[in-house]
Parts: sequence; C-alpha cells; structure tokens
Amino acid sequence: MRKRNYLLSLLALLTLFTLLLAGCGGKKEAAQNQSTEKIVAKFSHVTAPGTPKGLAAQKFADLVKERTNGRVEIQVFPSSQLYGDKDEFEALQANNVQFIAPSAGKLISFDQRFQIGDMPFLFKDNQGAARFWDSEAGKKLLRSLESQGMIGLTAWPNGMRQFMNSKKELKTPEDFKGLKFRIPAGGVLVDIFQALGAGTANIPFSEVYTALQQKVVDGTIATFDNIENEKYAEVLNYLTVANVNNLSYIVIVNKQFWDSLPPDIRETVEQCLKEATEYERQLADQLDQESLAKLKQKIKVHELTPEERQAFVEAMQPVWAKYEPVIGKELFEEAKKLNQ
Ligand code: LMR
Repeated sequence: MRKRNYLLSLLALLTLFTLLLAGCGGKKEAAQNQSTEKIVAKFSHVTAPGTPKGLAAQKFADLVKERTNGRVEIQVFPSSQLYGDKDEFEALQANNVQFIAPSAGKLISFDQRFQIGDMPFLFKDNQGAARFWDSEAGKKLLRSLESQGMIGLTAWPNGMRQFMNSKKELKTPEDFKGLKFRIPAGGVLVDIFQALGAGTANIPFSEVYTALQQKVVDGTIATFDNIENEKYAEVLNYLTVANVNNLSYIVIVNKQFWDSLPPDIRETVEQCLKEATEYERQLADQLDQESLAKLKQKIKVHELTPEERQAFVEAMQPVWAKYEPVIGKELFEEAKKLNQ
C-alpha cells in the first residue's frame, strides 16, 4: 500500500513538473512572439509613385524593411488609392492609416498656422522651406499636432507653385480678372486669387484633371512636377513661372501607433525617415527641373521678369496683412530670416 502511495506521489510530482516545464516554455515562446511580432503600417498619399513624395515614401518603406529585418512593413499606397484629400486626415486620426504626407496648407482645419506653407513670396525655394521646417520654430509647429492625435515628423519640400490656365498668357495681376482656379485648400490660397480678382474652387487632387478638362475651373496653381505627372498640359495651354509659394509636405504619423512602437524600433524607423527625407530633398529640385524641361516642349511657358514678378509681390500685400496676425509674427520672422 505504502509502495502504491509512493508511486502515485511520484507520478503526481512528475505530472506537475511536466506541466511547469510546458508552462515555462509557453511563456518563453509568447515573449519571443511578442518581441518579433510583425508590425504593419500603411502610408497613404495622393501623388504618383514616380514623384519625389512617391519615391521618398517607397524609400522609407524599403529602408524600414531592411533595417528591421522585415519586422516592420510599411505599405505605401500612392495616387489617392487608399485615401484622398477628403478623407486621409480622418483615416489617420482613426489609425486606419499610420502615415500621410499632405501639403502643409491642407492642415488648415487643425491649425491655421500651417498656412505659412501657402504664403505668397515668403519661401524662396525648397532649401529655404526646408530651413524653416527644420528650425526650432518649424519643429515646434510640427509637434503642435500632438494634441490632435498626430505627430508632424518632418517636411518634404517639393518645388515652387506656378500658375497655369487654359485661356490666356498670364503676365500681370490684371490678367487674372474673372478667371477661376483650382486650389488644394482654403484660406491663404483663396485670398491670393481674390487679390488678383480671380475666383477659386477647392478640389481634391485626384479630381483636378477632370475638373480642368470639363472646364469647371480655368486653371490651377501647381509645381512643375505635379503639372507633368498629372498631365495638366493635355488640358491647359499656358504656364506662368512665378514661384508663388512653396509646396511642402508634412510627414504625419498617428500618435497612438507611434507611441506603441518599441523604443528601439521607433528609433530605427526615425533614422530611416531621416534618410528618406534627405533623399526626397535631393530629388525634388532635380525632378522639378526635368519636368519644366518637358513642359517647355508641350505648352507655352512664360517666366515672369523681375519687374513683372514685383507687381505680383505688391498685389499680395493684403494677403500678408491679413495672415500675419493669424500665423503669428514669430513664425513669419523666422521664415523671412531663413529665406533672405
Ligand atoms: C495639391 O493638392 O495640389 C498637392 O497638395 C498635391 C500633392 O500632394 O502634391
């Protein structure tokens, strides 16, 4: 009897030991799973894959995949395939997409100060815009989105915006009277055209070609790169090189997603974004000039003389007067200082 009890106890002990071992193994496996769990994020944007934004977004995704050994996958959705201008912010805030890169002015409904990106004749070129967004004042503005569930990580400038239309050559502010232009966002852009006696329609990027073709609007304001990639020269006849304002993209991430990344992974992703940003900034000028060269073969291009341009600068004084208090003197002064 005693021997039987002894055997039973031994069996119970063995079972317990086996269970404990299995338990430990399970825990270990779970911990391993956790630390190697794949992270998938979506990067949605509105331009073509071959644009500086498209190429830089893909570069970012490729670098992240390589540096995290495939643990983090960033899926890039170009050309408004996933979300367009109308719904990308909502999708980002809902964490349905983790990265977007809209032009700064499109942030108008979150913070009016982002309209500094659309201000006429403030930024000289891509480099001047980059200096502003990289400055303490610029970074502070980017970080200010945090309270709304988003983080502005960096800026990708992509050329100066020019005027285009189907009706006539535009050389003076007076030439704009009665024309209607597509704009990507309200505020400053509405007032730029109002100061020239022209009307505006706020149209999402993916619908611009059709709107121009169907003559919903007479023209648009866009960079050489977008004009070429979106084939606006097929439906418009005149391009005026005025370098009105700079098109800067703000790379924005969903805050909840960003905060959920393990610190080492976040650091790697941040480093990849830094490299993709350098790449975008090198590429932007080059592709812009290549696009201009192609456009010159297709449509009538007029480059404003310094005197002609000065007339536009003067016509924009009411816009400056209106937006300086909205955007704030400090940001203006910083941008001016970095764009002399
Ligand atoms: C536009 O809507 O014209 C631009 O912001 C599009 C873009 O992202 O280049």
